[in-house]
Amino acid sequence: KASRIVVAGSLNADLTIYTERLPSPGETLHGHGFAINPGGKSANQAVSAARLGGNVTLLGAVGSDSNGEMLLASTAGAGVDVSHVRRVSEPTGVAIISVDARGENSIIISAGANGTLSPADMNPELFNGAGVVCLCLEVPLETVQAAAQAGHDAGASVLLNLSPYAAITTELAQLSDVLLVNSHEASQFLDGFIMPAPDAPVAAWLGAVEKFAGRGLHQVLVTLGAAGSMVLDAHNIDNPVVRIAPTAVDAVDTTGAGDAFTGAVAARLAAGSTLVEAARYASVAAALAATKKGTQTAYPSGTEVDAILQ
Ligand code: RIB
Ligand code: NA
Repeated sequence: KASRIVVAGSLNADLTIYTERLPSPGETLHGHGFAINPGGKSANQAVSAARLGGNVTLLGAVGSDSNGEMLLASTAGAGVDVSHVRRVSEPTGVAIISVDARGENSIIISAGANGTLSPADMNPELFNGAGVVCLCLEVPLETVQAAAQAGHDAGASVLLNLSPYAAITTELAQLSDVLLVNSHEASQFLDGFIMPAPDAPVAAWLGAVEKFAGRGLHQVLVTLGAAGSMVLDAHNIDNPVVRIAPTAVDAVDTTGAGDAFTGAVAARLAAGSTLVEAARYASVAAALAATKKGTQTAYPSGTEVDAILQ
């Protein structure tokens, strides 16, 4: 039986406009298709994991407003336990998102209620029996660290999605079992070390494995957008570097594809998959998520992922 997943972090209302290209400073552009959809990295990760069969509890905070209602409905609708998402007087977190014709996006977030999520909300009892804990950096860092500690103490595998990028303490790095980053975040974390090309020889990627291990991270998943992803696993002596080939799709909106990936990894690890199996499965889930507009509304079911994996 799959173990329980605790996702602790953010929920945002995504205010998205689609545009031919992203605007330059001082420029006004005509866009189209404005929509307000459920988002926020943690809510997205929770929904992704639940859609794929995960037993998920979400810890977070939303405002007492209609955006908060929308987010509770969306996450609960996917089967996520939201009984520990607090309603606070601050407004629900918001993300202003622009998506260009290639499906690339730029995002600005305003924390609102997410900023009130505190270490005290990370009650160790809520982590009892958790097999996987999933974290991102859209809530205060001390809260992330408290959740990582609670997850670690409960014997769970702690997944840290280093997004949006922030410098983290050595303690938080060491409490994290699996780091999930895109190549940009990976370079920032490693003080400017440039990730090798996706098809670079294993020897080149071994440099990255060593750098991460030096920072206390032994298992790292690097997402490479349309180029797939890399599994860097210093614990896997025979195969420390495994490249996951991309799933070719027509990307419409890549917003939240990384969260689909993280949630899928959580779901598969909770079900007992190896890191490589989980990454392979998650790559397909993320690719499918990019074929539709929005984040949570675009996430695939296990049946859809399986259809491509066979
Ligand atoms: O990763 C995508 C998410 O980032 C969006 O849903 C937006 O809310 C921001 O948090
Ligand atoms: Na999408």
